[in-house]
Amino acid sequence: MSTEQIWEDFISLNSFSDFSFEVLEPAIAYSKQDPEIHLSNYTSEESLSDFIAKDHYPLPSTKDREGYFGNSHYSYWLSGLRDYLILKSILKDNDVPLSSCLDLGCASGRVIRHFGVQDTDIDVWGSDINYKHICWVQKYLPSHIKIFQNSSIPYIPLPDNSLDLVTAYSIFTHVESFDLAWMAEIRRILRPGGIAYITALTDFSLRNLNNKIPVYKSLKNHKDFSEDLIEKPMNKDKYIFRYRNFGSYSSVVFLNTEYISNAWSRMFKIIDIKRQFPGFQDAVIMQKI
Ligand SMILES: C[S@@+](CC[C@H](N)C(=O)[O-])C[C@H]1O[C@@H](n2cnc3c(N)ncnc32)[C@H](O)[C@@H]1O
Repeated sequence: MSTEQIWEDFISLNSFSDFSFEVLEPAIAYSKQDPEIHLSNYTSEESLSDFIAKDHYPLPSTKDREGYFGNSHYSYWLSGLRDYLILKSILKDNDVPLSSCLDLGCASGRVIRHFGVQDTDIDVWGSDINYKHICWVQKYLPSHIKIFQNSSIPYIPLPDNSLDLVTAYSIFTHVESFDLAWMAEIRRILRPGGIAYITALTDFSLRNLNNKIPVYKSLKNHKDFSEDLIEKPMNKDKYIFRYRNFGSYSSVVFLNTEYISNAWSRMFKIIDIKRQFPGFQDAVIMQKI
């Protein structure tokens, strides 16, 4: 395939590329690294050792996991386990039994690897617009994890009312338009009572931006960004900072909480909007009623 842009890559990424990967050891090899993430609020030391022992699959190198956690490979693995434990506890609190889940924009499986490895009786799905991540998961994670490439046109090729849980970590931070069509699609595939867990940058995130937050470093050089935006209340539903006009996954998007509460709540019951949870982004927890 030539390097000329192909139409598929306007609505997805790397659709026709060949990949070779260098992978890291399983998590246990890095478990002596000083962790940036502590799980004492979520699990005991003993169970943590069991989780580590069970996951004998390789970790993606830093470049194959969207740069998450730099060289802190153990923290990368812990962050996925933490999110998995949080989701299990939300499902429990809302009496939602888990037999099937999808992580939209799963990258190389930071979160779904734990569903696939720790709960082998669950129907686990993952998708991403970047075909590179699809190949990584297919090559290195358990074969019962089902994975497909989606595009940035809202459509998920799964049946109506078929899943208990849909997650999207740091996806709606990059979706400029069509978030409502995505919500309708997520609602369609969730069974009644099912949970959607979506992270977002919001007006709250904007007010709390500072030098320590990675997104701030790229934003502060953006032509449409000014410190004023941090100081003043958000006066629109969305602030969209585009880095390219063509192609997917090329913007940073902040959503006004008022917008989420008004627009997304027409399709779901919003159970909670947890601020900076568990990282810098807010978590919007919703239920299909
Ligand atoms: C910041 S990364 C987060 C990765 C992963 N969710 C995690 O928490 O480790 C954003 C991911 O979303 C994917 N992505 C961006 N827009 C998407 C879309 N519309 N649908 C599916 N995936 C998307 C990117 O390819 C990338 O893997």
